[in-house]
Amino acid sequence: MITHNTEGEGLNAPNYVQHAGVLEWVSSMVALCKPAAVHWCDGSEQEYDGLCNLLVTNGTFQRLNPEKRPNSYLACSDPSDVARVEDRTFICCEEQDDAGPTNNWMAPALMRQTLKPLFDGCMAGRTLYVVPFSMGPLGSPIAHIGIELTDSAYVAVNQRIMTRMGRAVFEVLGTDGEFVPCVHSVGAPLRPDSADLKWPCNPTKYIVHFPQTREIWSYGSGYGGNALLGKKCLALRIASTMGRAAAHDGAPGWLAEHMLILGVTSPQGRKYHIAAAFPSACGKTNFSMLVPPAAFKGWKVSTIGDDIAWIKPSVDGHLRAINPEAGYFGVAPGTNFHTNPNCMASLNRDVIFTNVALTDDGDVWWEGLEKDSGSLPAHLVDWQGKDWTPARARETGAKAAHPNARFTVAATNNPALDAAWDDPQGVPIDAFIFGGRRSTTVPLVTQAHNWVEGVYMAATMGSETTAAATGAQGVVRRDPFAMLPFTGYNMSDYFQHWLDMGTKLGHTGVKLPAIFCVNWFRKGADGTFVWPGYGENMRVLKWMIDRLEGQASGVDNGLGISPAFDEIQWSGLDFSADDFHTVTHMDKADWAQEITLHAELFAQLAHHLPPALSATQSALRQRLAA
Ligand code: GTP
Ligand code: SPV
Ligand code: MN
Repeated sequence: MITHNTEGEGLNAPNYVQHAGVLEWVSSMVALCKPAAVHWCDGSEQEYDGLCNLLVTNGTFQRLNPEKRPNSYLACSDPSDVARVEDRTFICCEEQDDAGPTNNWMAPALMRQTLKPLFDGCMAGRTLYVVPFSMGPLGSPIAHIGIELTDSAYVAVNQRIMTRMGRAVFEVLGTDGEFVPCVHSVGAPLRPDSADLKWPCNPTKYIVHFPQTREIWSYGSGYGGNALLGKKCLALRIASTMGRAAAHDGAPGWLAEHMLILGVTSPQGRKYHIAAAFPSACGKTNFSMLVPPAAFKGWKVSTIGDDIAWIKPSVDGHLRAINPEAGYFGVAPGTNFHTNPNCMASLNRDVIFTNVALTDDGDVWWEGLEKDSGSLPAHLVDWQGKDWTPARARETGAKAAHPNARFTVAATNNPALDAAWDDPQGVPIDAFIFGGRRSTTVPLVTQAHNWVEGVYMAATMGSETTAAATGAQGVVRRDPFAMLPFTGYNMSDYFQHWLDMGTKLGHTGVKLPAIFCVNWFRKGADGTFVWPGYGENMRVLKWMIDRLEGQASGVDNGLGISPAFDEIQWSGLDFSADDFHTVTHMDKADWAQEITLHAELFAQLAHHLPPALSATQSALRQRLAA
């Protein structure tokens, strides 16, 4: 650990930092933010423990009972800082048209003017942590390096779990390697005579991306994707612009997607790799760790990633995907031994929990765990530090854990981790899945007839909003490719990039991945989910593999190919043909309305919208009305 006062002593960077650009940049940011000290993170365990101890002393962390949950901590945030802030997230490229109608935009010069006074002195009284990290395996040709300057020790320790963080990054960077500069402040300078808060933050928030200069500036929030800048900011918003910029003439470029990646192995030992895009809090972590039902003897699912995929065509003729992250920042509520046993096993030790409840014996609790224990705890301290009892919860509806409460844990804690999870070559993708959270309308599973129709399905996907972002909850909105909050450029250009990828791969004779859309969330007349979901999603996954192997002919539902009832392996599940009808039928009036919503999205995106997608829409409208 290297901590130094900045006054008069310079930066005191460790001698292994030999990159003039880094030193110059850190020096200018120190001059701007005026921290009391600078700490260059080396990524060691000793440093991690030291910072966690500091967070315990400051009151940000509570150490959990080491007998129940070794080496684990609970942080509870300010109630105003609990999720991503999409309305405060900006893409600042020179032309507004390049950000497109789905992103907040401000001209770069104006944004810089706006940010400067906010960052001026913003770290007063605090330590600036220099957090070097690699998205993707260290030193691999597909990895990208970022350096986050942050005044939050919470961010520094989370980044050690979520990324490959520390000294080795500087060795890879050498004297002139490329890095994405990321500046983060909670926006709460500390006066010498005032006590610190447990969760400092600022009501004014800015999550800002400059795609052309590849910079990230984040102000005012300490939470999740707002603050762990390698994740959504770098690995999705900036990386999506990099992937498209790499496309020209014959070069296909690459894709940065909000996708889990899993491996699925059949009893015969055939292995397939699937990448699936579901919007935030719609089941990626769950699906990536799926445990097949008992009747699926010999089937095995393994996790490559749970949130982000970087996908590139490789010389062997496959689209290959890597997970740029090293850990999971996953939703806690709803996670239990019934829904996700692999995740539960991952959480046994070495975890940072944020905004879950504390039990009287120093462990953690969240809504959904009662399904394992059979009863609610008699007493908890909820995520806001208030006493929680089942009686009070019944009266007030108060949640013990915030609905967007999360855990941070290393991928290596996951018992289902795929052996190739950090292979720099990535895994060959056989199919893409797109899925939204829809209580009505959208059937359980449909395979697109072809690449263009698959791109159309993904582009027009709708989903009910969740607690992962601030704002209205449970309202259906279009969330193209589950990337609405994460595409760093014009959404129509992004559609074109996907279409072009298909064309270019087609020219090289590559078999394009199949594209499916799914919906685990259809509700019955009683308002409950009809499809059992979780491990039972294996039944749908198996049908997809049957399709890949030419073993299921399916039926055409107009949108694409969907399973006949008897094409799904039902053994071990009591699910009637009526239930199946409820989750698969396509109501004509609902779909007329749905296509109207697709058309509204296309009207919004009309400028640059690929004509192939409008043509697909007309054909689909006619098919579904027939
Ligand atoms: P982000 O990390 O926000 O990108 O989310 P994610 O897509 O990884 O979501 P996650 O797997 O954490 O799931 C979030 C919520 O969806 C939890 O409340 C789960 O219980 C619920 N969920 C996941 N899979 C299923 C399913 O198959 N059926 C139902 N009904 N709910 C599910
Ligand atoms: C999401 O919201 O999609 C997440 C959580 O994965 S966060 O890192 O906060 O963006
Ligand atoms: Mn996510």
